[in-house]
Amino acid sequence: MISGAGLLLLLLLLVSLAVLATRFGRWRRPGEPPLDKGVIPWLGHALDFGKDAATFLSNMRKKHGDIFTIQAAGKFVTILLDPHSYDVVLWEPRSKLDFNQYARLLMDRMFDVKLPDYDPNEEKTMLRMTLQNQNLSSLTKAMSFNLWNILLSDPSRTSLHWKEDGLFHLCYSTMLRAGYLTLYGNEGKDYEDVSGQAKDRANSLEIYNEFYKLDQLLMKAARSILSAGEKKTFDSIKRDLWKLLSVKRLDCRANRSVWLDSYKQHLVDLGVDEEMQTKAMLLQLWSTQSNAGPAVFWLLFFLLKHPSAMAAVEGEVQTIFGSRKQTIGQVHGISQEKLDNTPIFNSVLNETLRLTAAPFISREVLQDMLLTLPDCREYHLRKGDRLCLFPYVSPQMDPEIYEEPEKFKYNRFLNADCTEKTDFYKGGRKLKYYTMPWGAGINVCIGKFHAVNSIKLCVFLLLRYFDLELKHPDTKIPGFDKERYGFGMLQPETDIVVRYKLKDQ
Ligand code: HEM
Repeated sequence: MISGAGLLLLLLLLVSLAVLATRFGRWRRPGEPPLDKGVIPWLGHALDFGKDAATFLSNMRKKHGDIFTIQAAGKFVTILLDPHSYDVVLWEPRSKLDFNQYARLLMDRMFDVKLPDYDPNEEKTMLRMTLQNQNLSSLTKAMSFNLWNILLSDPSRTSLHWKEDGLFHLCYSTMLRAGYLTLYGNEGKDYEDVSGQAKDRANSLEIYNEFYKLDQLLMKAARSILSAGEKKTFDSIKRDLWKLLSVKRLDCRANRSVWLDSYKQHLVDLGVDEEMQTKAMLLQLWSTQSNAGPAVFWLLFFLLKHPSAMAAVEGEVQTIFGSRKQTIGQVHGISQEKLDNTPIFNSVLNETLRLTAAPFISREVLQDMLLTLPDCREYHLRKGDRLCLFPYVSPQMDPEIYEEPEKFKYNRFLNADCTEKTDFYKGGRKLKYYTMPWGAGINVCIGKFHAVNSIKLCVFLLLRYFDLELKHPDTKIPGFDKERYGFGMLQPETDIVVRYKLKDQ
């Protein structure tokens, strides 16, 4: 119970805060976007924004339109939700709208990574090359061998009897383990050496188990809201992962990707010491592995809930893998041309990502500036604020662009002649950005092609070699873990139980 004096003090404090906010607080100036500070001084809308950004921002859009500024934990964030206007932000020079400052803040908060100054454009260009062309085909081959090891060489999985598992756990662990081995290398050079395979399975499982624990705390770490106890656990998991990913250990691994060696050399060139290099390796494990597993989960879940979509995709898998007598060598040698020639799967993937990918695209406003939108509206932005696009709310879930946007329709991105549908409209005008799971501009995913190949290989192997079904066919679509809005792929609130067994060959 608060005493009378205590109550009076509390009241005085609140009144003083309100007076301070009125005296020194921020007010909307002419030409600025609508300002919504919320009722709590300084904190503003931080709680609602952090709890469920999609609902909060959709409500704000109804109230203020497609551009507005909110206050959250002392920061003023302008939100732009008109996809016709995204290009204006994406291509504005870094001297005005900087994408790197906030990324560096998060790198430090989440992974203790502090790097010297470098040109992020140059870094991305260099790393993008390591994930494309010849390097991409090496990665695809390595991913195929590693997926095979995790899924089809593991005696605990290859049973002719039904086995139960959580679908999210199955997909996330399979993709993270195979993805980690593909980029960070194997115990031995020979993919088909049985003892090397067993070591790879054990090592990648250890990495996944630790990473999964870390992943549960990462969103709170990003928002600096870990309790003291959680912070202790978080730091201890990171220490364990740093041991597993130490650059000394990684240097001894075989089949390391060109991406890994180039990134390590880039850190050496920047003069980064070994301890910080190791911390950066964990940051990169998150950047490269946190999205594809959840994508495979949602995609398989939607297929399991939509039999016509499943039948269409299975038909494509049949044409890719052809006869059942296909050798393992033929599976691992699958060409890029074959992988690309899957229009139905491509539409299913686009639709899955439209529904479940929710990254923010953020910029720090480095100088007072005028934002001119293509429809000639002009808005003043203030130095020190943040500007944020949230493509999940618009275009991805916009009912003006997509009929029944909350529904999975597997052929939404397919024309009648089986080519990819790319014409979507808002306000009568064709959209350049109609879905943005991979980000855009400088924020575009540099691993997109590798990610798409990896997702396809995983789904195709699962569907080709396993019978897979929902334990409870009437299972509803799980809700999202809402604190993940803004950080890429969403995860389900609860896992879904599936049964699987090796197909009778
Ligand atoms: C469904 C799977 C994936 C999705 C939806 C996705 C999405 C994204 C997005 C939206 C960004 C931009 C982040 C930003 O700059 O704000 C990004 C960056 C990136 N992605 Fe992906 N990604 C996926 C899988 C992968 C995979 C498998 C790799 C593996 C190579 C990868 C590598 C990267 C890297 C290296 C970056 C740059 C991070 C940085 O700026 O430092 N991604 N991804």
